[in-house]
Amino acid sequence: MQSTRAPAPAFLPVANRIRNFSYAIRNIVAEARRVEAQGTRVRYLNVGDPVAFGFRTPPHLIEAVARAVADGHNGYGPSAGIPSAREAIAEELAARGFPVPADRVFVTAGTSEAIDLVMTALAEDGAEVLVPMPTYPLYTAVIAKLGARARFYRCDEARAWEPDLDSIRAAITPATRALVVIDPNNPTGASYSAATRRALVEIADRHGLVLLADEVYGDLGYEGPVPSIGSLDPDAPIISFSSLSKAYLAPGWRTGWMGIGRSPRLDEVVAAVAKLADGRLCSTVPMQYAIPAALRGDRSHQAAFRAALEERAAITAEYLNAVPGMTCARPRGGFYAMPRVSLPSGRTDEDYVLALLRATGVLCVYGSGFGMRPEDGYFRVVFLAPPAELRDIYAMVADFTQAYLRN
Ligand SMILES: Cc1ncc(COP(=O)(O)O)c(C=O)c1O
Repeated sequence: MQSTRAPAPAFLPVANRIRNFSYAIRNIVAEARRVEAQGTRVRYLNVGDPVAFGFRTPPHLIEAVARAVADGHNGYGPSAGIPSAREAIAEELAARGFPVPADRVFVTAGTSEAIDLVMTALAEDGAEVLVPMPTYPLYTAVIAKLGARARFYRCDEARAWEPDLDSIRAAITPATRALVVIDPNNPTGASYSAATRRALVEIADRHGLVLLADEVYGDLGYEGPVPSIGSLDPDAPIISFSSLSKAYLAPGWRTGWMGIGRSPRLDEVVAAVAKLADGRLCSTVPMQYAIPAALRGDRSHQAAFRAALEERAAITAEYLNAVPGMTCARPRGGFYAMPRVSLPSGRTDEDYVLALLRATGVLCVYGSGFGMRPEDGYFRVVFLAPPAELRDIYAMVADFTQAYLRN
């Protein structure tokens, strides 16, 4: 029988919101695969995954997960997380100076899901959220998905990438709901001064904004763990986020958390997040057993990891600052740097990054993927590779950049 249906369109339509949902860190991989298919070795300096560079998940965390699976903890768990994990997180936050009751802790599929849940709870159509520029791109992607609006505040490269407090104050409107603070920072590697941190808390408190404190790199300050920003005023409206992904070397487990401050102003947020958490049932249960093991157990791997990162940060700043036409602020924590190349007029950061990739196989992410202006020439480097390999990579970057800037 002949079909009477009209010919199918090439593509069935998807929701409009997808147009504004962008995550450059992974989007750029498609081009890297093409370069690889042509026979060039690609050095993936785009994703901040320490395990991909040979850093090992601590064995006592792996044992805790293996034991949980063997002991039959394979069913659904409570939406907010298993009690032992929530208690360990509450203790950890208290030890960092930010006492949060365990019933205001939620275990999530990485910090990423915590960000999604809280933004969904806070930001609706027309709401505004203050986001650093440059930013970790998940924030702008989720805000766009929700139909809310990201308002960027400047971070100043000339002052070690500290947030510009005046630009935060100037961006606040009656529609502003939240202030995102990432410290230590991805993508800049900054760690903020005590005075800046105090001012950020004061701004959030005074204007009734929820301070979303992204502290996933909190244990990776080179001078040692950075106190939670909530320690400056535990009664301010602050939510602290972290996970096992970075400082506990288990990003694939998708295990993170948020601690919602004790301020009664946040009670409705707690209720909203609890409702949303019910809807996605729970985060992966066996991995939650690694949380008490991580937070109450041996952390000696962290000192070694911090030392390895500090060495790589120093190499990164030294080599990239030696490239004519390039500057790079020295990171103070985490494993990212945000160098800048003085582009000839008419060229964008994406042009530079793609040309670098095609010529050398070195894959970085262009600064405009983090909210920077394309013509400003910023790009982000993940410096987790071993020191000798980093030196080789930076030598290639230097040769390429000199030729690129000459043409
Ligand atoms: C600043 C920042 N926040 C959140 C995340 C997401 O981490 P998770 O693996 O905990 O979802 C990352 C990952 O790179 C990050 O850099």
